[in-house]
Amino acid sequence: MEKVNWGIIGPGRIAESFAKGIAFVDNAVLHSVASSRKERADVFAGKYSVKNSYGSYSEMLDDPGLDAVYIATPHSFHYDNVKLCLNAGKSVLCEKPLTINEKMGRELVDLARSKNLFFMEALWSRFLPVYTDVRDWLDSSKIGDIRLICANFGINVPYDLNDRWYNPDLAGGALLDLGVYPIAVTQWILNENPVTVKAEAVMTETKVDQLTAGVLKYPSGVIMQMNCGFAAQALNDLKIYGSKGSITIHHCFWATDSATLETEDNKLTVTRPFKASGFEYEIDAATKAIINGEVECSGITLDNTLGTLRVMDDIRNQIGLKYPFE
Ligand SMILES: NC(=O)c1ccc[n+]([C@@H]2O[C@H](COP(=O)([O-])OP(=O)(O)OC[C@H]3O[C@@H](n4cnc5c(N)ncnc54)[C@H](OP(=O)(O)O)[C@@H]3O)[C@@H](O)[C@H]2O)c1
Repeated sequence: MEKVNWGIIGPGRIAESFAKGIAFVDNAVLHSVASSRKERADVFAGKYSVKNSYGSYSEMLDDPGLDAVYIATPHSFHYDNVKLCLNAGKSVLCEKPLTINEKMGRELVDLARSKNLFFMEALWSRFLPVYTDVRDWLDSSKIGDIRLICANFGINVPYDLNDRWYNPDLAGGALLDLGVYPIAVTQWILNENPVTVKAEAVMTETKVDQLTAGVLKYPSGVIMQMNCGFAAQALNDLKIYGSKGSITIHHCFWATDSATLETEDNKLTVTRPFKASGFEYEIDAATKAIINGEVECSGITLDNTLGTLRVMDDIRNQIGLKYPFE
């Protein structure tokens, strides 16, 4: 395969970032878009010059010219949407969180593996250019041994039950929406999953978490303090404290182009502007992996994703967050 023909399922808000990003990726074509409402697919197709637009997901998946699908629906639909795509023989890049719990995630991972199909969670932060600088600083021990990581993701979200944020039927709540980032980025920094997790939350009257705070301890002895919430604007940075200095991944750390390294005698800030929306880097990684015949992306393996889902299951057990359809 020399190029990958991509399709989108769920042309809503975030699908726009995918469409803007893919235009900057070699060997990737935005081939199709499918919505449950044909008019929505048509409007999106018109805006981004997509050749094929469908009013049903299955119809798009019947096209033998389509290689891979980006799924951009709310969390509660990921499981069914991924299954539909894999059973149609398509590679899949699915928005975060991959599923609402580890059990469902594992079922999909097993299905993808049994079909030898590429499958990846769209955790775009891990592919951002400035993260390469952070990786270099960590690998060359610029800050010594890592001791503590502090990360926050807090935004003011209007209370609207028609949207996914506060809606339990759409697997709403701050943890699955925002908390996935500090957990997945810390996993990327340390290359390990926590051994203990402690969490507290404030719940909404709809019984999803409005604010969740966690303390996670990793096998290397590092502690990560995180909070995520819909109730207040936070600094939204991620700070790594080491024995010889610190690294700040600036706000918004999951979507940033800048980071600072601070040691006793040096302070260095690097900025790596995006080519487009920032999604181009994860799309590039996924496209290259598919062309190379790989079934996973080394930037975020399926075991990485299952590890994150396991941590979120643990937090949800502690804060009493259970969805009606689980
Ligand atoms: N990577 C990031 O930075 C980022 C940022 C925001 C969101 N996300 C993730 O992207 C995903 C989608 O978020 P979004 O805000 O883009 O979603 P959205 O705009 O609310 O919806 C996207 C699509 O999902 C389907 N959908 C939405 N609500 C539905 C409902 N009640 N019933 C049935 N289908 C529904 C619709 O698809 P049809 O057109 O087919 O009907 C819609 O076009 C989530 O997993 C979210 O966590 C990622």
